Amino acid sequence: MKILVADDEKNIRDSIMDFLKLEEMDVLAAENGFSARRMLESEVFQAAVIDLKMPGMDGLELLKWIQEEGPAIPVIMISAYGDITDAVAAMKLGARDYIVKPFDPEELVIRLKRIIENQELKERMELGKREAPGFEDWICKSPGMMEIKKFIEKIAPTPSTVLITGESGTGKEIIARTIHRLSPGAGEPFVDINIGGVPENLLESELFGYEKGAFTGADSRKIGMFELASSGTLFLDEIGDMPIHLQVKLLRVIQERKIQRLGGTQSIPIDARIIATTNKNLEDRLKQGLFREDLFYRLNVIRIEVPPIRERREDIPVLAGHFIKKFNKIMGKIVCGIEPEALECLQSYGFPGNVRELENIIERAVILVEKDIISINDLGITVKIQKFRIKKGTLDQVQKQTIVEALMRWEGNRTRTAKELGITRKTLLNKIKEYGLE
Ligand SMILES: Nc1ncnc2c1ncn2[C@@H]1O[C@H](COP(=O)(O)OP(=O)(O)OP(=O)(O)O)[C@@H](O)[C@H]1O
Ligand SMILES: [Mg+2]
Repeated sequence: MKILVADDEKNIRDSIMDFLKLEEMDVLAAENGFSARRMLESEVFQAAVIDLKMPGMDGLELLKWIQEEGPAIPVIMISAYGDITDAVAAMKLGARDYIVKPFDPEELVIRLKRIIENQELKERMELGKREAPGFEDWICKSPGMMEIKKFIEKIAPTPSTVLITGESGTGKEIIARTIHRLSPGAGEPFVDINIGGVPENLLESELFGYEKGAFTGADSRKIGMFELASSGTLFLDEIGDMPIHLQVKLLRVIQERKIQRLGGTQSIPIDARIIATTNKNLEDRLKQGLFREDLFYRLNVIRIEVPPIRERREDIPVLAGHFIKKFNKIMGKIVCGIEPEALECLQSYGFPGNVRELENIIERAVILVEKDIISINDLGITVKIQKFRIKKGTLDQVQKQTIVEALMRWEGNRTRTAKELGITRKTLLNKIKEYGLE
């Protein structure tokens, strides 16, 4: 923990410094406002103790700068007996506390610790609040998704761990946020960590936090995400990427509902609801030994499998409408809808990027459209897709045409084409040969 002390009187500076060092705090001292500001600009502090009266830039000016442009750290002001009006002004400017000279350094330490603790609490609350206004509505219409919706409403109020699986862009994260919103912890933090996005050596300390001195460089306590999410939701995105040794620890946390900070000895109770997602096939990773079986079964109790959008085409019109409204608002446009032909075109597209891709297509269309309705040319995907045509001909001809169209939608990708057509890859390869499509 690093503290800045700014006072022009050397003996006061020194005595505060000595005392804080006894408490194992790092202290840097400045003899006036200007040098204090320079230090605040170049180093990270957890709090500052500032004398009101200093030559040059005084304490009030320094405080004002901190509040307006400087780092968001709590400040304690030191005022001389008789400077109470200035001390009041300082509190109005945002100082967290003030102490009157002469003071007992021990008293200062107590107050300093208190405001640093409060600051941590405040940061935690802000983490929670950040979520509130950003909520996006989760839209669905297809029978499959309506089932999921009902399921979500049922499980949201429980504390159970949830596993959400599905291809990239199917809406796993927005479902996790919806569950949080419907849960008793809705007003509490939704803390989100992308397991694959955090370097492996940092992941453990991000999740569990650490005590001061746990390792070189751990110069103050850090609260981990399990604790930050307390009473709320901890969202473990891409859990398939979690290293095996942390999977063991995670399993233990889920079972025991307790953690220990790195380097700590105390068990801290955890009440955050855990929601995990993955777009990887966990069953496959299980077989490859990359995912622990016991953790998988523990997570798999409440499982939501989000289907790709090509398997729930009834959702396309409502989602398109939803995104048109969303981007109208963001871009100040008044697009009122989408031409039937363009909608048909979307209905027959494969959407390898799922809802995210649909959202991007609509965003682009809302930017480009010149009339007030989106036409096929605004979609930018016409090259990839073939327009829907009523198929006529013998059964064989219809089958061939269906396969050709599906292959074009998937740009020749056999596996995805087979999946869409509901046949095995082998059958598809046979058909391709049979019809001479290569
Ligand atoms: N049913 C839905 N209603 C409204 N918006 C949706 C819906 N499904 C997905 N979206 C939107 O589509 C985008 C992608 O969704 P999201 O990020 O939840 O996908 P994901 O499954 O987590 O993807 P990835 O695996 O790539 O992380 C987001 O902008 C999300 O808001
Ligand atoms: Mg995601």
